[in-house]
Amino acid sequence: MKKKFFITTAIDYANGRPHLGHAYEKVLTDVVARYRRMTGDEVHFLTGIDEHGQKVTQTAKAQGKSPEELTNEVAPLFVDLCKTLLISNDDFIRTSETRHTDVVRSILQDLHDRGDIYKARYNGYYSVRQEQFVLEKERVNGEWPEIYGEVVEIEEENYFFRLGKYQDWLVSFLRENEFVFPLFRQKQVTEFLKEPVNDLCISRPVERLSWGIRLPFDEDFVTYVWFDALINYISAVGYGTERFGEYWPCDYHVIGKDILVPAHAVYWPIMLKAIGVPLPKSLLVHGWWHTGGAKLSKSSGVSIDPFEISKAFGPDALRFFLTREMNVGQDSDFTMELFLSRYNADLANNYGNLVNRLLNLSGRHLKDGLAAATVDGDPEHEVRALWEKTREDILRLYEGFQFHTALERIFQFITALNRYAEIRAPWKLAKSDNPDDRAVLETSLAVIAEGVRLATVAVIPVMPGVAERVLGLLREEVPPTWEGQFDWGNRLEGRTFGERAILFPRPG
Ligand code: MSP
Repeated sequence: MKKKFFITTAIDYANGRPHLGHAYEKVLTDVVARYRRMTGDEVHFLTGIDEHGQKVTQTAKAQGKSPEELTNEVAPLFVDLCKTLLISNDDFIRTSETRHTDVVRSILQDLHDRGDIYKARYNGYYSVRQEQFVLEKERVNGEWPEIYGEVVEIEEENYFFRLGKYQDWLVSFLRENEFVFPLFRQKQVTEFLKEPVNDLCISRPVERLSWGIRLPFDEDFVTYVWFDALINYISAVGYGTERFGEYWPCDYHVIGKDILVPAHAVYWPIMLKAIGVPLPKSLLVHGWWHTGGAKLSKSSGVSIDPFEISKAFGPDALRFFLTREMNVGQDSDFTMELFLSRYNADLANNYGNLVNRLLNLSGRHLKDGLAAATVDGDPEHEVRALWEKTREDILRLYEGFQFHTALERIFQFITALNRYAEIRAPWKLAKSDNPDDRAVLETSLAVIAEGVRLATVAVIPVMPGVAERVLGLLREEVPPTWEGQFDWGNRLEGRTFGERAILFPRPG
């Protein structure tokens, strides 16, 4: 059986409504997943929520609920986010499910049996917000870094995982392998590993935190939430069963830059090494969205809430914006002004207008469906030459996660098609009785139609809903892969297209 292309997102804390950052990570992962399907891979796409731990417990308490009540309320919101944004995930894991908790407990038992987990008394500082132990030396001018929130001193017995034992192995692994994309982020990991790594405290006493997975060898403790959460990547695909080999090693864990070090680049590889499981092939690390300080845009009345934006402008428009604006790995800014300006310029006035023109003109002037392109002048040559360059570029750019530039190229091609339409001006030729004019009119609509088809097929990973709609209007099926799809041809000849449609209406 062919191994699947396995891709995951981080699992989001189940302590509140999904926000734009969560939406982005799912969209980015979905673009990769859909792109891989277009190249012929069989994809398995996993996402889910992280339900245990202190953060969820605290929020539940503040709302007067039990953690189970809270997570049962939050889970459907994240499932709904995936549906709303046309995310093509194959699975959605909740860390409270037994398929996960059973695996976590068996791994803990295994590591305990191997002597990689031991009990010790600990006296030190603990960040409640980050749910981690912190070191005295991390204080800056006597103050704890703000990201730690409240830091308390505690003394208690706990269980520790021997991270330090594997440090040298991890350092040499990173020296020999490109593990993190973009590569500059791997340097942050190497820097972190220059200092000795402490063993990881993987338990919390039940009196302090009861919402978690009990240690199989000591029921007075629950598992530290990160140790629990990371295991979702293997528990969801049948770790310990035969089918595991169809998925693992994972191809990409898509995560934000804040959870690279130490969780995904240190804890996770070492946990896997310790249980004798190969490492994931790569970590794809994205930057953060900031919101320009503005939560609400007065001009549109739409808040920066993924559900609201999707409701007002459609999921494809939000997916397009997030993918077009963010250079994967960098940070980016989301403002409604920027969103509206891209929506209007790229989607409504460029792509939407081109499709509208095509449907309108062919509906009016082509009684027997799309005719053949019989004229081969400079304008036609230019469009075709630009397509040949564009197709080459976009395949390379998609492959290298340069989605923002891939979209830029596709939209430059769409701009060129609109320009071509202006040059050939079929609406003017329609008035003429001259057969040469008629041939140019028919050719220009054939060229525009083929261009629209190609651009639309090329944006399938980013705008699957719009692509399906446009291809439907062209009487085309959505192709399962890109095989043979990018060849310029006249496959639409003879077709009668659908009615004129406004793809990107002006927000009311
Ligand atoms: N539960 C952990 C992850 C465990 S993975 C085994 C967690 N959850 S989170 O809800 O805080 O974050 C989930 C993901 O959303 C992370 O990858 C994080 O980087 C991402 N984002 C959260 N806010 C973000 C932005 N403002 N912008 C982009 N992504 C951000 O961490």
